[in-house]
Amino acid sequence: MAGQNGDLQGDVFYPPEDIVKNANARDWEQMQKEAAEDLEGFWEAEAEKYHWFDKWDQVLDDSNPPFYKWFTGGKTNLAYNCLDVHVQNSNRNKLALIWEGENDEQRTFSYYALYRETCKFANILKALGVEKGDRVTLYMGPVPETVMAMLACARIGAIHSVVFAGFSKEALRERVEDSQSKVVITQDAGYRNGSEVPLKQTVDKAIRHVGFVENVLVVQRTGSEVHMEQGRDHWYHELAEMPIASRDCEAEEMDAEDMLYLLYTSGTTGKPKAIVHTTGGYMVGIATTLRYVFDLKPSDRFWCAADPGWVTGHSYIVYGPLLLGATNFMYEGAPTYPYPNRWWKMIEYYGLNILYTAPTAVRGLMKFGRAWPDRHNLSSLRLLGSVGEPINPEAWKWYHEVIGYEQCPIMDTWWQTETGGFMITPVPSMPLKPGSATKPFFGVEADVVNDDGESVDPDEEGYLVIKKPWPGMLRTLYKDEERFKETYWSKFEDQGWYLAGDSAKKDEDGYFWVIGRIDDVLNVAGHRLGTAEVESALVSHDAVAEAAVIGVPDDVKGNAIHAYVILTVGYEGTEDLTDELVEHVADELGPIAKPANVEAVDSLPKTRSGKIMRRVLRAKAMGEEVGDLSTMAD
Ligand code: WT7
Repeated sequence: MAGQNGDLQGDVFYPPEDIVKNANARDWEQMQKEAAEDLEGFWEAEAEKYHWFDKWDQVLDDSNPPFYKWFTGGKTNLAYNCLDVHVQNSNRNKLALIWEGENDEQRTFSYYALYRETCKFANILKALGVEKGDRVTLYMGPVPETVMAMLACARIGAIHSVVFAGFSKEALRERVEDSQSKVVITQDAGYRNGSEVPLKQTVDKAIRHVGFVENVLVVQRTGSEVHMEQGRDHWYHELAEMPIASRDCEAEEMDAEDMLYLLYTSGTTGKPKAIVHTTGGYMVGIATTLRYVFDLKPSDRFWCAADPGWVTGHSYIVYGPLLLGATNFMYEGAPTYPYPNRWWKMIEYYGLNILYTAPTAVRGLMKFGRAWPDRHNLSSLRLLGSVGEPINPEAWKWYHEVIGYEQCPIMDTWWQTETGGFMITPVPSMPLKPGSATKPFFGVEADVVNDDGESVDPDEEGYLVIKKPWPGMLRTLYKDEERFKETYWSKFEDQGWYLAGDSAKKDEDGYFWVIGRIDDVLNVAGHRLGTAEVESALVSHDAVAEAAVIGVPDDVKGNAIHAYVILTVGYEGTEDLTDELVEHVADELGPIAKPANVEAVDSLPKTRSGKIMRRVLRAKAMGEEVGDLSTMAD
């Protein structure tokens, strides 16, 4: 493929010449070739760019697959690399974090300031009895203290488990219990869409019957009235005034394979999986992907508009940009508050250079028309990014033209909570095809295969697999090695490949086109939800005897949830009841899981082995032919 720079020709966009010339990954074909030839050599050279207290003995230990280890024997600390390293060099007074609250409040932190605040936070955690290896749950929104709290955990070797602040008390309880967190960190409340989200109150309800939570640390954000339980709950700002909260806290020397964090994500069954990420490989994985894909330069102001509660926020708000010494921008609230120009206004005001968001957000803003972005000068933008689901051509074009002024390459990054960082993704020097996440990142070997593990022909659909280990990969599922092996490694056990759970195609040029999940996992506004989770939430209501949930295409959210329920005898499918069921699901799982539609039915289509035939329901919901019904019970 060859073409003019800066042009969209047919379905290929060729990056502008100055972007290619200045890119960290200028010669992507060469880098790809070299990394493929010497995988360990590639990652080792990247690892050398960070601080290690002790160097590794071995780059990759693959003696016990699928339990791969990276940089074994190496000792390092993520927070040390994010902060101390910069405090010791000329970045000391550089802005590490610019934050804007939904209420227009602004806070900025230099690297030195963030270092001091993180040390303080770490000392407070220590004073609350948190030790290396302990789990700490965070139930917080996008505020600077979330960054500090995560870095503070990493600094002292505690394992953070961040629960997205949109999750319900039930979801929070389950995650606190599963991780056995002794300490929970939260805020009084957060601002979202002009309202206060009562975070502390949800924590109170969630841990009411959880015996082992000894301390709750509360960051004051809105100043709203909250209940403080004597002996258990502490205001962060009060402890921060005490002598325990000194500004120095030595970073724990962590083994490369020591656990860094747990992050719960949805799977095929009802119980969320706790993805385990460790220290050394994860650090190298996210820093390297960010360096080459978003081409981060010391002068850049980078905005990853995700929530810190998702992996995107972990890797590319909290850790990645700080590892590279960039300036990070973080925004607390809704994209449309108070008006749909909020994002564009901030990009102009702060002169942000890179915007990384999800197709659902692009579509959500596109809906309001181009007059909103057109009021602002967005020419500071150099690169755009997309993650969470395939980006549809309309959204790609709008993003490219209206936001990127036809000059910004769009980095469509395919990855997962499990992979830690980008896996299939362009770098800015590559020709792009709208809707394709392009090619595997340097050192990543991905393929599309059939049931027998054979590569499928170009443009044919198959399983997306990863054939070689990579440093940022999940190490296991917390306390569930069996499920780890079963979920990701059993389908292609003989070959030793990782099953991503997505279906995909590869075209003649070797570009990957991800289609979607092959398991019963929905993608609602870029968030992963298991159909089984929503079904169990419905069934936990007295009125519901049985439930089946499907995703149907939605213009903005990707998937909208449609629920079919069989009611318990004595209940009637009135509008009040369906409204109540929708609210019930929100209570159980969080507002993101709200079904768009609940329909009472007399029976559900099932196979003779009792499996719900979701494709039949989907066809019905969309008014399509139901197809082959030979396996249906009746
Ligand atoms: C699933 C992972 C990784 C952070 C966001 C979601 C889908 C993700 C893309 C993309 C097509 C994508 C996949 C994947 N997905 N990025 N660029 N193109 N699909 O993380 O919640 O772990 O979900 O999101 O289906 O398996 P996650």
